[in-house]
Amino acid sequence: MGNAEDAAMSFAEASTAAGIPAEAVELNQVELDQLATATHFIVVTSTFGDGEFPDTATLFWEAISTSTERLDHLSFAVLALGDTSYELFCNAGKLLDARLEELGATRLADRVDVDGYYEEPAAAWTTDLVKQLTAAQAGPAAVVVTAAPADPPARSQDRNRPVGVPLTVNCLLTATESDKEVRHYELDLTGSGISYEAGDSLAVHAANDPDLVTAILAELGVGPEYRPADADETLGVLLTEHLEIRTPSRALQEVAGAAAYGEDVLDLIRRADLTVDEVIDTLRPLQFRDYSIASSPLVHPDHVHLTVATVRYDAAERRHGGVASTYLAERTQTVRVHLRPNHHFRLPAGDVPIIMIGPGTGIAPFRAFLQERRAAAATGRSWLFFGDRRRSTDFLYGEELLEFVECGTLTRLDLAFSRDQDTKVYVQQRMRENAAELFGWLQDGAYLYVCGDADRMAKDVDAALHEIVAHAGGMDADAAHAYVNDLIKTHRYLRDVY
Ligand SMILES: Cc1cc2nc3c(=O)[nH]c(=O)nc-3n(C[C@H](O)[C@H](O)[C@H](O)COP(=O)(O)OP(=O)(O)OC[C@H]3O[C@@H](n4cnc5c(N)ncnc54)[C@H](O)[C@@H]3O)c2cc1C
Ligand SMILES: NC(=O)c1ccc[n+]([C@@H]2O[C@H](COP(=O)([O-])OP(=O)(O)OC[C@H]3O[C@@H](n4cnc5c(N)ncnc54)[C@H](OP(=O)(O)O)[C@@H]3O)[C@@H](O)[C@H]2O)c1
Ligand SMILES: Cc1cc2nc3c(=O)[nH]c(=O)nc-3n(C[C@H](O)[C@H](O)[C@H](O)COP(=O)(O)O)c2cc1C
Repeated sequence: MGNAEDAAMSFAEASTAAGIPAEAVELNQVELDQLATATHFIVVTSTFGDGEFPDTATLFWEAISTSTERLDHLSFAVLALGDTSYELFCNAGKLLDARLEELGATRLADRVDVDGYYEEPAAAWTTDLVKQLTAAQAGPAAVVVTAAPADPPARSQDRNRPVGVPLTVNCLLTATESDKEVRHYELDLTGSGISYEAGDSLAVHAANDPDLVTAILAELGVGPEYRPADADETLGVLLTEHLEIRTPSRALQEVAGAAAYGEDVLDLIRRADLTVDEVIDTLRPLQFRDYSIASSPLVHPDHVHLTVATVRYDAAERRHGGVASTYLAERTQTVRVHLRPNHHFRLPAGDVPIIMIGPGTGIAPFRAFLQERRAAAATGRSWLFFGDRRRSTDFLYGEELLEFVECGTLTRLDLAFSRDQDTKVYVQQRMRENAAELFGWLQDGAYLYVCGDADRMAKDVDAALHEIVAHAGGMDADAAHAYVNDLIKTHRYLRDVY
């Protein structure tokens, strides 16, 4: 989402300003021979998936984790961005830090691991490191490398200054009899100062469910006006607007016991005998949630559309709801938002073919792409793989997609409704059924995009892509792997998965 690139660019600017010229470079664009001649190697990396490297760094990690070249001449430092709500906290940064040491490089400073909001710790890390480098007069040979794109983009909008915008449309995309609830939202950006591009996401700053807040206060035996020691706000305001009460923090689980999947803060404090302050001290700040924008600014310059699956489920004998998705669905008419530009996830030139794989809510950015291509009268071929549970209830934007086929914006639409027959059918099966043609599109220079579930879908689609390239391209597994790596390196295989 651009955090590492932002931190790296800030470092490069500060270093250059202090007399040590530096530029931020995407890690995948760095070859190991460059390290052989470099003196300093400064890395910022986030962690993605389950403890994995972000897509912009996977190739570099593949190379350095198998390399035996010694790096005794190299000094390095690593800033690792992550989130302690994930099991493998800052894993990518930790792996790279350990590997550089293993290969003989010398640590300039201990690795810094950042939990959540990165701006302040990244700024402190930059200040310390630049001071150290200038003191040692490292000279102009410093190399700054990060998981960032080759062309430095403009900075993301400020999360500390979200703007309130009216929610003008809130309607169901799934049929009422569906066992999922996916909604289409439209937000009016007029006067907000936000201008977006197809491929960007929007961060939604939600408030917690007041019923859950009331239940937590009752469990703690205090009223909403109670003010915790050193707090600027009452507990009612803190629990509603500032603290994460759906997903229990690791710190709360350490004092209250581990949460079972789906349990929230109320479930945990019901089991443990904790004081109010013990609970408040352990809670994390409430974070915004990202949503891929489902509209094109060429068609809707003053509005953004979102496609959101409402999270509702039963656990610990209670109904539970996701913070932001239920807030959008039922608790607000004005939403505080900020833009999350996604410079990696962009359409190519209008005459270049594109392949889009977006089951479920993964359809969102591809609706934006298709709107954009139609508005721009793009001539390139477009192929969409969409899937969901049942055609009769879950064909999100079904009529629109069929219209895109009719008007020729969409050259091919392949559908996989997983529960319309006894055996599950997923998008990757449709890809395999069309292996030769899909490979042909890639050979013609097509860009391939994937959006939606990261845990299972994106991994299975990736495996299918490797198989398709091997099979249709007549390659062995290694050659197919190298072919897909080349797509990644040249930014033709792009993913917006979560
Ligand atoms: C770049 C990006 C783009 C995204 N785009 C979209 C998009 O276009 N559309 C979209 O819908 N989402 C999108 N998401 C996901 C979105 O940001 C939120 O994570 C999602 O809406 C859930 O947020 P929430 O606040 O409603 O739920 P939360 O309060 O975050 O609760 C979610 C948690 O509830 C628990 N949970 C959920 N379901 C169950 C279950 N069945 N049983 C037990 N526990 C469960 C899990 O612990 C889960 O982590 C995107 C995420 C990213 C990072
Ligand atoms: N962690 C979970 O268990 C879980 C479950 C559902 C949704 N979610 C999350 O809920 C959000 C919204 O869900 P969504 O509407 O985008 O999608 P979704 O409901 O998860 O799935 C959309 C379609 O993808 C299919 N699918 C399931 N596993 C797949 C795989 N390995 N490869 C390809 N397709 C697969 C589903 O089939 P089937 O459902 O019939 O298998 C369904 O037809 C996402 O953030 C998603 O991650 C999580
Ligand atoms: C889908 C997804 C998976 C993530 N997985 C992890 C993880 O396994 N470990 C971790 O510490 N952080 C994880 N994070 C948190 C990110 O590393 C963190 O938000 C970071 O600031 C993102 O930086 P970036 O914008 O440069 O990618 C994950 C975030 C997302 C959206």
